[in-house]
Amino acid sequence: MNFHDSEKVAGSLVSQGYRQVRTVEEADLIFYNTCSIRDKAEQKVFHRLSDFKALQKQGKKFAVIGCVAQQEGERIFERAPHVSLVAGSASYRNLPEMLVQIGRGERATGLDDRNTEETFETEFTARTNPHRGYITIIEGCDKFCAYCVVPYTRGRERSRTSESVLEEARRIADSGLTEIQLLGQNVNSYLDPMGKRSFAELLAEVGQVKGIRRVRFTTSHPRHFSRDIVEAIDSVPTLCDHVHLPVQSGSSRVLDAMAREYTREQYLERVSWIRATKNRTISMTTDVIVGFPGETLAEFEETMTLLEEVQFDGIFSFKYSPRPNTPALTMENAISEDEKTRRLAVLNERQREIQRANYHRHVGQVMEAMVEGFQPARNQVSGRTSQNKPLNFTIPCGAEIPKIGRYVQVRVTKSHPNSLVGELCPDGEAVPSAACTIA
Ligand code: 5AD
Ligand code: SF4
Repeated sequence: MNFHDSEKVAGSLVSQGYRQVRTVEEADLIFYNTCSIRDKAEQKVFHRLSDFKALQKQGKKFAVIGCVAQQEGERIFERAPHVSLVAGSASYRNLPEMLVQIGRGERATGLDDRNTEETFETEFTARTNPHRGYITIIEGCDKFCAYCVVPYTRGRERSRTSESVLEEARRIADSGLTEIQLLGQNVNSYLDPMGKRSFAELLAEVGQVKGIRRVRFTTSHPRHFSRDIVEAIDSVPTLCDHVHLPVQSGSSRVLDAMAREYTREQYLERVSWIRATKNRTISMTTDVIVGFPGETLAEFEETMTLLEEVQFDGIFSFKYSPRPNTPALTMENAISEDEKTRRLAVLNERQREIQRANYHRHVGQVMEAMVEGFQPARNQVSGRTSQNKPLNFTIPCGAEIPKIGRYVQVRVTKSHPNSLVGELCPDGEAVPSAACTIA
């Protein structure tokens, strides 16, 4: 989300006559986009800001944007007096005016727009991902999970019209990109302000835009994860075989304390829908927090059995990190740092074994990969499957290196817990030939 926000901010300023440069040295004004989801991310910001200080002597100006900016507000000016502008994501629409202000030598803030109904839309996104076009369809979050800072930093939920999303999808396709990722903190809470399309309908229609071959979406909230989303994936071939559905905990008691609004059983019910598709094998990934205040050993064990039951293809796992303003901050029975570290290690070790087995099942298969890059040192092309699994492959001697964004057929020869290894099929850009089918 932040990566794409930066693309939008840069693009909208370029459309106002600013010029984007490649290095800090060349810049007169440096934007620093920040994240405060966990304490570590936030600490990084202040270290980096103090590194920037030396550049002030060269006349450079600094703008801090994103969630740390929103959260810390004018305190940033106290801790880093060389900063001239502080703005949260709900204020990006107003950046041009703020830049005029700092041009006059004043300080500018954009901190009061979290209740806005408006979204930040621009036709001028400076897309830097060479193979994927991001589209924000909903901003903010109204969920207020007990541990999470996002509703306080990104403001209330507001969706773009489905017409404007589809228009952007067409523009992306016209620019030659074939993969789209729909974004939202809570993407499936999407509510078309014109009431024309549900999230699943919008997803399906983006998948039908001419020239688009892959559509992804993040992040879904289990509470609003409805069956029609699974049906859309099952019936529209361009929708990728992958759902990221953060569970956070396998214990209904902890989920309740987290204010997640679903139980373990309800989560597993959604998993059963995802597993019951007729035409597709949908890969599932998730987010897990260990050591939420009051999480007992038995409750942590429930997260472990959930991993066992679902057999995710990937997890992002985190130690609970206390965040300002959130209800969890004052909850009793905090778990010690050492115990959180221990639980995280146990969780990750088990997950690694699950993934080892999951990824191994692909050996011998022919899979479609989209080319994302080339690593000359390894003579390996890096690609990604529809299921979002990295698939790195070699090409026959003397063959041309497939260009970024091309789709090729690859025979999987080996697997690791986080990636697949393969060989480009002869005639690799066509449908698999006889020599290329499963061994
Ligand atoms: N501590 C630890 N992890 C967190 N996340 C969000 N807030 C916190 C927190 N305070 C994790 C959740 C979420 C992901 C983006 O970050 O798992 O899904
Ligand atoms: Fe945070 Fe919960 Fe909103 Fe996700 S749904 S952004 S975890 S408050």
